[in-house]
Amino acid sequence: MAESTSAWTSRLHVHDEVYRDFLNQPDLPQRWLLEQTIYTGPSRRSLLPHLPLKDGMRVLDVGSGFGALAFDLAATKRLDITALDSDDALTGVAERIARALDDRLEIVFELGSRVDFVSADVYELRSKEELGVFDFATARFLFQHLSNPYEAVMALRSRLKPGGVLCVIDVDDGLTITYPENTNTGFAALQRAFAELQSAEGRDRNIGRKMPHLLKHAGFDITATALLPQTQFIQTTVEDPGVQLTIRRFEAAKDDMVAHGILGASQFDDCLAAYRQEVLQPQFHITSQVVILATKPLEEV
Ligand SMILES: C[S@@+](CC[C@H](N)C(=O)[O-])C[C@H]1O[C@@H](n2cnc3c(N)ncnc32)[C@H](O)[C@@H]1O
Repeated sequence: MAESTSAWTSRLHVHDEVYRDFLNQPDLPQRWLLEQTIYTGPSRRSLLPHLPLKDGMRVLDVGSGFGALAFDLAATKRLDITALDSDDALTGVAERIARALDDRLEIVFELGSRVDFVSADVYELRSKEELGVFDFATARFLFQHLSNPYEAVMALRSRLKPGGVLCVIDVDDGLTITYPENTNTGFAALQRAFAELQSAEGRDRNIGRKMPHLLKHAGFDITATALLPQTQFIQTTVEDPGVQLTIRRFEAAKDDMVAHGILGASQFDDCLAAYRQEVLQPQFHITSQVVILATKPLEEV
């Protein structure tokens, strides 16, 4: 491992300790998201050496959640990062995590890096002139939540310098394979209900395959596409962190599933109880996230 890579790897261990401290805090909003942040850390960080970042760049992370990607980036290069999310509660916790990292009195970022948090909607970016323009922008697991992804791409584009790069990382459920398949099971029923809820709320879990076209249509050049694959052959138990995370994600969506009439409350409870039994079966899981690097042309066409 190169010396600089091992330097920031040890910084990221400190980040993880701080995230785990926050998990113990009562009343943490969207606890499942912080669990997901920790659980998907290795896959998120495997991308870091491949991003076209240079010391001194201005970076925008949109849909930043608890700020993990912004903190990762600040640890690898000297960057001036703005992390933006529409959920005030999340940006509030992210600011507290930033202070907790600072309080550790260890090197947690590259010298001179800074991360500022802004509560705002991606669609407002065009009018946020006070933010200035950026060399690099990221949006990880944002687009699956948006009802107007094209408008969001255009808004992001307006905050990039000519020649600036946008990196989108997102899901596509078509890239998930499980063997043996989960058919007629509690898990399958909950997963179907979850997908139905997302489309009822204007979200899209197949957004990954659509992003290159959307970006091209918005005037970007597609400079790289890749998959971040994950595989696991496991005989899970209900205590496994991945299973716990899935259960909490379903639980967090229960009220909305019931409100939309997708599942009744007791139906939901029955499916979850069945899932807790099913996870004892051995299975092979294959999944991938889609990664797109897109460049804003130097000359406007
Ligand atoms: C699944 S989380 C991903 C968080 C983070 N990027 C990560 O990779 O862990 C999606 C985030 O997008 C934010 N979000 C959803 N709609 C948004 C919008 N219209 N504008 C800005 N942020 C939004 C949510 O508040 C949430 O924090």
